[in-house]
Amino acid sequence: MSRPGFKLPARILHWAMAPLVLAMLFVGVGMVASLEWRPMLIAFHRPLGVAILLLALIRLGYRWRNPPPPLPADLPRAQAAAALASHWLLYGLLVAMPLVGWAMLSAGGYPVELWPGAQLPSIVPHDATFYAPLRSAHSWLSRLLFATILLHVAAALYHAWVRRDGVFAAMARGPGED
Ligand code: HEM
Repeated sequence: MSRPGFKLPARILHWAMAPLVLAMLFVGVGMVASLEWRPMLIAFHRPLGVAILLLALIRLGYRWRNPPPPLPADLPRAQAAAALASHWLLYGLLVAMPLVGWAMLSAGGYPVELWPGAQLPSIVPHDATFYAPLRSAHSWLSRLLFATILLHVAAALYHAWVRRDGVFAAMARGPGED
């Protein structure tokens, strides 16, 4: 009998985004920690962040038309609620982080150049008093994103190694396989 699982496009989007988002967190920390690496890392950070925003929007659109498989019926209600809440928090952060990064540069009056010759428009008016709160929001949201990812990975491994209920396999291998 075939077991429900995520369809191939959902799995490709998930596994493509996972290393990109992790790389972004480390690139972000690296560029504020090292003056030497800063110019190179910042040149990665902007286009990669915008790519994550586009992928997150594509993913939300795909998910809306292709709802995920249900969680196991015997999963305790508190765990099911935590799974739902953490997944929506992840989606929210994957959209909010790039928008806040883009907005903070716009507020500071800095150009958002993706690569030489490709510049994005400002999304908020140039106002230096906005820069500081957006800069600190970007920093705090990145910590929340990192903590949520750690929780997400821990929950995935709990399903794979402790409960062995097919939830991990649904994203790792898709429908109908063990
Ligand atoms: C998923 C997307 C993103 C993630 C996970 C991310 C993550 C980070 C992290 C972890 C930091 C370091 C924060 C700190 O330690 O204070 C950072 C800083 C920064 N990010 Fe992002 N970011 C994202 C998207 C963007 C985008 C799209 C832009 C611009 C278009 C951007 C512009 C910046 C800038 C300018 C800084 C700080 C530079 C500084 O003040 O030294 N980020 N980001």
